[in-house]
Amino acid sequence: MVLSHSGSPLVVLLGPPGAGKGTQAERLARGFGWKKISTGDLLRDEVARGTPLGRRVNEILQRGQLVPDDIMTDIVENFIAHHCPKGIILDGFPRTLAQAEALERCSQGKRLWVISIEVPEEEIMRRLSARRVCRKCGKIWNLNDKIWDHTPTPDGTHLDSEQATPRCDCGGELVVRDDDRPEIIAHRLEIYRQQTAPLVQFYRDRGQLIEIGGTGTPDDVFNKVCEELKRKLEVGSS
Ligand code: AP5
Ligand code: MG
Repeated sequence: MVLSHSGSPLVVLLGPPGAGKGTQAERLARGFGWKKISTGDLLRDEVARGTPLGRRVNEILQRGQLVPDDIMTDIVENFIAHHCPKGIILDGFPRTLAQAEALERCSQGKRLWVISIEVPEEEIMRRLSARRVCRKCGKIWNLNDKIWDHTPTPDGTHLDSEQATPRCDCGGELVVRDDDRPEIIAHRLEIYRQQTAPLVQFYRDRGQLIEIGGTGTPDDVFNKVCEELKRKLEVGSS
């Protein structure tokens, strides 16, 4: 997809766990040629590599709590400072009012749009209990997807849904995220309601909110997001 880039848009994906932020961030980055940062992926990678930051946040992630604001703000400020030319997608930041205020300070001069993806909680539980993530490339899968039955394995054969060891199309092993256990999902949803959901009103008040229904296929959601974003970017550049 080709969009004109007048100015430098900064697009936030906001929504509860399982809303499809990561799925849409991936598509937007590919479709618009923008840089994305998925803060949860970045933290999990630090944990997997056993870095000092990874060791510090490991237990927080396992419990489904939020990492302290100062750590997250430093990471994102640094990312924005180094990736400004075209456009930036923030998947999973901000998640608190303090983070939103920090973003406001460091995003001066950029056009900030916040896409709030709304999905009912029963659907979230259904999606997260069937999510699998590739250990090698990070691609997000879901056992509920029909496409699953037709996914080629590296040796050219096809899995069927009854087979035990699912693999990504890159050949990587597909794993369940540590925080996708039912009790941790419930806790993450509670944290979302308390600490992150108030940001919807925060951005609505600033006229920066784009509300998108997150049900329907990932393609349906992507089309809605693109339509709304294009409209905002065109208006902003005229
Ligand atoms: P993070 O990794 O960001 O987790 P999250 O916000 O809980 O969101 P998820 O990644 O679980 O869901 P998603 O919305 O990306 O959905 P996805 O596209 O995968 O954060 C993890 C942890 O890191 C936090 O708990 C916290 O500890 C820490 N952290 C991160 N950022 C932080 C911050 N700023 N401050 C403090 N701490 C922070 O989709 C879910 C599933 O549904 C997939 O299987 C997908 O295939 C499927 N799916 C997607 N779209 C659709 C659709 N339209 N229809 C059907 N299925 C779909
Ligand atoms: Mg995600």
